[in-house]
Amino acid sequence: MIDLEKIPEHVAIIMDGNGRWAENRNLPRIAGHNAGMIAMKGIVKAASAIGVKHLTVYAFSTENWRRSSEEISGIFKLLVIYVEKELDELHQNNVKVRILGNYDKLPKEAVKSLERTLETTKGNTGLQFNIALNYGGRNEILRAVKKIAMKVEEGILKADEITERDIADNLYTSGIPDPDLLIRTSGEMRLSNYLLWQSAYSEFVFTDVLWPDFTRKDFENAIEIFQHRKRRFGGR
Ligand code: IPE
Ligand code: IPE
Ligand code: MG
Repeated sequence: MIDLEKIPEHVAIIMDGNGRWAENRNLPRIAGHNAGMIAMKGIVKAASAIGVKHLTVYAFSTENWRRSSEEISGIFKLLVIYVEKELDELHQNNVKVRILGNYDKLPKEAVKSLERTLETTKGNTGLQFNIALNYGGRNEILRAVKKIAMKVEEGILKADEITERDIADNLYTSGIPDPDLLIRTSGEMRLSNYLLWQSAYSEFVFTDVLWPDFTRKDFENAIEIFQHRKRRFGGR
């Protein structure tokens, strides 16, 4: 049973294993991504119902451009379908959508429907659903460094006075608390360039479940594991 008094404020997920799920069924990889979108829909609902404040999902990394153009365009097409189909319901459920990453590099159609979603949901006060899209942690830090360096160049900031807060404020996640819990599915135990700065003190839960099979029950299990962890943040 999860303790509703100790719900992590921010849960981040690396939704991995769509391809293997499809391969196991002799289906094309894109069928796995479609099943993954359906799983994501369920977890957004679950997170919202449980009272998680921020849910951040890794949907497409800066390294995922290395995949076939067929797979890449399929993923973005599915994303448009998801956003278009779910917008009303997300909005009704008071969900606020935010994108982390350089999404204007995506196909035009995807950018348009994402922007409509951001605009429609911007005033919502329920779950904040952050979608990491064309996101990479190193790229995010580099981008922050450039923004800060610019301020130094302009004389607005002194190099010696740069703080951790300045860095955090220039990441895509500015204003979002660091993830308390980071879940990765499919048995892989690595970060794959996800939230490198922000996960400094996150609790990690790895599960062998492939993302399309990940249910509300699995999500609650991960939260329960989190609730039994003792976080020390370097203290004793
Ligand atoms: C995660 O599933 C989704 C994306 C990276 C877009 P994968 O497509 O990585 O699935 P596997 O790891 O090949 O099984
Ligand atoms: C991480 O999964 C990216 C997403 C889930 C979007 P990958 O499948 O791309 O990661 P690696 O290649 O196994 O490290
Ligand atoms: Mg993978």
